[in-house]
Amino acid sequence: MTLPETTAELTTYIENRYHARHREQLPELRSLSAKVEAVHAESPDVPAGLADLLADIIGELEVHMKKEELILFPAIRQGHGSQMGHPISVMRADHDDHLGAIAKIRSLTKNLTLPEHACGTWRRLYTGLGEFLSDIEEHIRVENDILFPQFESEKRAEPGPYASSPCMAHEFEGGGERNS
Ligand SMILES: [Fe+2]
Ligand SMILES: [Fe+2]
Repeated sequence: MTLPETTAELTTYIENRYHARHREQLPELRSLSAKVEAVHAESPDVPAGLADLLADIIGELEVHMKKEELILFPAIRQGHGSQMGHPISVMRADHDDHLGAIAKIRSLTKNLTLPEHACGTWRRLYTGLGEFLSDIEEHIRVENDILFPQFESEKRAEPGPYASSPCMAHEFEGGGERNS
């Protein structure tokens, strides 16, 4: 994985490499899953409830990615990333929810273990899910560990908990000027 050098380019890379890919991939995984659940309803290995879980993930991920695409990433591209402490903490909380959904997928599919009798659809479903899980885990790591920390280091200088202290407020203004 070679990442672009600037944070502005990194936000565009995330949209093209991860957001677009999730949108392209998830609806098919959901429909494959509905087929497997219907055809193999009697099998003890069937990932019962996976299609509904994927439907929830599609909805939640769409809202999350829209927040990044419409609010956070444009602010970063315009040089206002250091003022995005609150939106970034909201994104981190969303990522924790996504990690919970990922764990549920792994548990429902016994960590993507196919039964011996699995048909072609079931195999395609687990291969596709494997790609999705590795994409979304990498996507979250890139945002949590590479993109967000570049703006959180300045968090200490934000007003927030020090809003009542004129000294800290003054320091924050100074910091703002220094960075502009
Ligand atoms: Fe993202
Ligand atoms: Fe995200």
